[in-house]
Amino acid sequence: MPGLFDSLELGSIELPNRIVMAPLTRARAGFEAVPNELMAAYYAQRASAGMIITEATGISREGLGWPNAPGLWNLAQIDGWKRVTDAVHFHGGRIVAQLWHMGRLVHPSLGGGQPVSASATLAPDYAHTYQGKKPYTQARPATRDDIERIVADYAAAAQNAICAGFDGVQVHGANGYLVDQFLRDSANFRDDEYGGSIDNRLRFASEVLGAVGETIGMDKVGIRFSPNIYSQGVEDSDPIPLFAALADRLEELKVPWIELREAHQPTSAGAIPTAPVSPMMRPRYSGKIILNSDYDGPKARARMAEGIADGIAFGRPFISNPDLVHRIAIGALLAPGDVDTFYSGGAAGYVDYPTLDEAKAA
Ligand SMILES: Cc1cc2nc3c(=O)[nH]c(=O)nc-3n(C[C@H](O)[C@H](O)[C@H](O)COP(=O)(O)O)c2cc1C
Repeated sequence: MPGLFDSLELGSIELPNRIVMAPLTRARAGFEAVPNELMAAYYAQRASAGMIITEATGISREGLGWPNAPGLWNLAQIDGWKRVTDAVHFHGGRIVAQLWHMGRLVHPSLGGGQPVSASATLAPDYAHTYQGKKPYTQARPATRDDIERIVADYAAAAQNAICAGFDGVQVHGANGYLVDQFLRDSANFRDDEYGGSIDNRLRFASEVLGAVGETIGMDKVGIRFSPNIYSQGVEDSDPIPLFAALADRLEELKVPWIELREAHQPTSAGAIPTAPVSPMMRPRYSGKIILNSDYDGPKARARMAEGIADGIAFGRPFISNPDLVHRIAIGALLAPGDVDTFYSGGAAGYVDYPTLDEAKAA
């Protein structure tokens, strides 16, 4: 059984270890959504990860609803990301861009107009805006033209990612955002070919993957899901058949890897998990499966030994431990993160967590 420190192929990407940095929104890009030197420094510090998945990155103004998150729809953003990918590659790392459309979770004050979703639904809780939290606005259901345009936006963003020097992309299909809003029956009430049956609810994700794969090569494409959690009002009444059909579809599309944010306990997001679906997906899907949520070194080793996961993605531990791979290798204690600076902007709590060696020298 391979361990965390064995190499791994994810399509065309060769990882020297199986410790993946999970996508982490850090809100340091500014309103124009352009990555900067500070972000390049942050990602370069974490280049020893087997692979870095970037923070969620907007494919369009319409799809980006998180203040100060980055984008990948214009030249300035491509140039900004180029600094990041150059820095990561210079330090020996690999990096893929997480492609994001937030659907109904985009507040109109961010400049994208009335949000679009699978159906005319209203997300629970509050939207993030530049003026603080505000109630969500009801989404309008995507027309066929909208769907065609948004699928093309995913493909264009994937092409931009390659121009920016990324090794590949990860489509964000998790956490209640647009792909998830189409996938699951708590947010999709359509009666056309994009809603109703499981097959129809898989159509949008399949079209996005197909278009992105056709544009940059499917060997550079992965996708993330959060199968067993309730996230931002999105869940499924019957996740097992949905994710079984999804595993079959991913197999047909030859998507080389997936990442599952699959909770085994009430999650960091406070959600109530249903049964994990990865044991059922494993025999149906021959691509690589990366598992995430609430792992440390020992838990990751134990999970790998069960033979379902090909790798483990760590989120919060990578925020406060830039040398996480080294710490896991030697069984060192992990430094706790400061939640107050997760999204605060600036260098504090971003690029100032020391490595073990730096902490000892101080
Ligand atoms: C600060 C923060 C930002 C996050 N941003 C993203 C994101 O941009 N995209 C995403 O898919 N998940 C995001 N997540 C979820 C993480 O990728 C991960 O699933 C979660 O933190 C659980 O893993 P962990 O226990 O290893 O932290 C975020 C989580 C945190 C704490």
